[in-house]
Amino acid sequence: MITPMPIVVLISGSGSNLQAIMDACVSGKINARICAVISNKPGVYGLERAKEADIPTHCIDHTLFPDRDAFETKLSQCIDDYAPGLIVLAGFMRILGKAFIQRYQGRMLNIHPSLLPHFPGLNTHQRALDAKHRHHGCTVHFVTQELDGGPPVALSKLEVNPPETAESLASRVLVLEHKLYPTVISLFAEKRLYMEDNIAILDDEPLHAPIDITQIQTKKISQHL
Ligand code: GAR
Repeated sequence: MITPMPIVVLISGSGSNLQAIMDACVSGKINARICAVISNKPGVYGLERAKEADIPTHCIDHTLFPDRDAFETKLSQCIDDYAPGLIVLAGFMRILGKAFIQRYQGRMLNIHPSLLPHFPGLNTHQRALDAKHRHHGCTVHFVTQELDGGPPVALSKLEVNPPETAESLASRVLVLEHKLYPTVISLFAEKRLYMEDNIAILDDEPLHAPIDITQIQTKKISQHL
């Protein structure tokens, strides 16, 4: 078994995805070790979850910096202290600049609450409802300079059931996120997944479309984990 990959997780909120990733590391479903959790917002519940699990935490409050560059310089110094193999954005709600993204290109993943390329940005659940989409869900992708537009790796989807609200969709999608993100992180930690020339590669094959994990039988998912 290869050495567990060191991971740094960036959050801005409640950290339910962080919790799913922590649990998957502890149970051995992901061959990785979360070496630090960093929030750009003070007092968020995700920091408590990490402390509870004895994971080092840092709060780097972006409002205390004169500009984006100063904030991101501090953020990358903090990340680099842990020499992570992967940076996981788990509900991290800051847009990142070019230099920062280039520094971690190919080793930074994000989860987004929509079926990309639909609805990059904010308010994804309400926008899916307004657009009367019959399916909605979440996508994990490599982070590149295009906002929520880096190479997608995997998605998970559900049927929109009227009368559905943005709130009901948000909580149903979160359940999918908690399975999807650990699955993808596990593939990366096993070095089966990487990015090359702006394309996601899985088991040495380019992913022309994201893996739909809702379509994979439980047995097959466990092979991925
Ligand atoms: C999740 O739904 C995640 O997909 C979303 O924030 C929520 C965080 O929840 N991320 C984004 O919108 C990023 N653009 P959590 O803090 O409970 O994991």
